[in-house]
Amino acid sequence: MDRTAQLTARCAERDIAYDPPPVPDALHVRAARVLEANWTGTSTVPSRGLYPHQWSWDSAFIAIGLRHLSPLRAQTELETLLGAQWGDGRIPHIVFNPSVPLDAYFPSPDFWRSSTAGRAAGAPRTVQTSGIVQPPVHALAAWLVHRADPGLSRARGFLTRVYPRLAAWHRYLLHRRDLGGGGLASVVHPWEQGMDNSPCWDAPLSRITPAPARSFRRADLDHGAAEDRPTDLDYGRYVRLATEYRDGGYRDGLGGGHGAGSGDFAVEDPSFNALLIASEHALARIAEELGATGRARHARAERLTAALIERTWDPAEGMFFCRDVRGGGLVRERSVSGLIPLLLPGLPRDISAALVRTTASEHFGLGNSTRLVPSYDLLGEAFDPHRYWRGPAWFNTSWLLERGLRTQGEHRRADGLREAVLDIAQSSDFAEYVDPYTGEACGATGFSWTAALSLDLLHSQTRTTAVEELKGGDRG
Ligand code: SER
Repeated sequence: MDRTAQLTARCAERDIAYDPPPVPDALHVRAARVLEANWTGTSTVPSRGLYPHQWSWDSAFIAIGLRHLSPLRAQTELETLLGAQWGDGRIPHIVFNPSVPLDAYFPSPDFWRSSTAGRAAGAPRTVQTSGIVQPPVHALAAWLVHRADPGLSRARGFLTRVYPRLAAWHRYLLHRRDLGGGGLASVVHPWEQGMDNSPCWDAPLSRITPAPARSFRRADLDHGAAEDRPTDLDYGRYVRLATEYRDGGYRDGLGGGHGAGSGDFAVEDPSFNALLIASEHALARIAEELGATGRARHARAERLTAALIERTWDPAEGMFFCRDVRGGGLVRERSVSGLIPLLLPGLPRDISAALVRTTASEHFGLGNSTRLVPSYDLLGEAFDPHRYWRGPAWFNTSWLLERGLRTQGEHRRADGLREAVLDIAQSSDFAEYVDPYTGEACGATGFSWTAALSLDLLHSQTRTTAVEELKGGDRG
């Protein structure tokens, strides 16, 4: 007799009903429930309250997890996003849901005015979007989604339809956004890199005059604690940069002197570019699947890896740093962004070994003082364990580093990180981000990419190397 049966029998002898303790739902059931609740019918919101539209890099991470629940939905998630691509190839960072009230999120469609201000850049007419971009995780996501159900993918012509759009997206980044002239893509707004208030932006943003606080109303504070979010001063600068970019017709390039893309803020970021490189390898695999050769794309990815090292690697610190294209130098702030190049299969051995040491050093503490990697240097002056990207640990960066550690053959460390993601996703109720020391939930809970990436780690073969997935040699 098992324990429950014994207790039931004993209670029956005493004529009392046995009330068994509730069994918590398994992690994958709870994760699936989050993704179900955040699904709109054609895409997934990152969080019902704080982010009620479709976000670009969120959708890519969400598709990577959703493929284990429904490959069809995962394909749809990416296709909906790509349906809002601009004529110049950019994938906007937000695709707005017209049924959500304008005041539910700031900046709303009437701020971005994509269909008018973005007309020359080829913004779509029928759907409203923002005019900036987010990190290019999409080709990587499309490739992983395909591999979850190649039969369905081929039957629907999924890769045939998304390949030209993904190729145009990479073309946009590599040509229109090479603002530093060294081959890497620049971001022209902190929201583009995704780590909005990272201390890496403090120096380049200090040159921007903030928009007056009275000129806009933040909606994020209706849903999140002010001490977990960027400050009003940060927002003033975000608004100024976005306004100038919009008023310059979302034009990119050095000429003209107007608009953010042509002047005030341009940064080459290690994580944005590492994701572009990983996605270029994935595009090569997609081309091969479609019967073409991926050789030129793999070669481009290798050249970009060399450019990333040349322009952003600091051997003395064992870190990649952001390069402030307008200020002319490396921004020596240690951010998780500078560890994400671990993802790259072509990283020289000495660089990957130094980066692995840095993850475990007192600056990030991985496997020592922290279980998930903090977004910013634990010893940095600007470190704050709760404020968005100034210290808290995020699940997408931990997922990327888990993959990166495997890519470099560091399976023991990757196993530890995988366990930590699964434990802390569960205990924090799929938080948006957590205190890196205590795991305390910050920001929103029921956050889609936290649920999706936990599902992915639950399903992934822990020893399947990310290198095989990107460079070939497997039988996927
Ligand atoms: N992450 C930004 C926000 O908090 C914009 O994408 O709204």
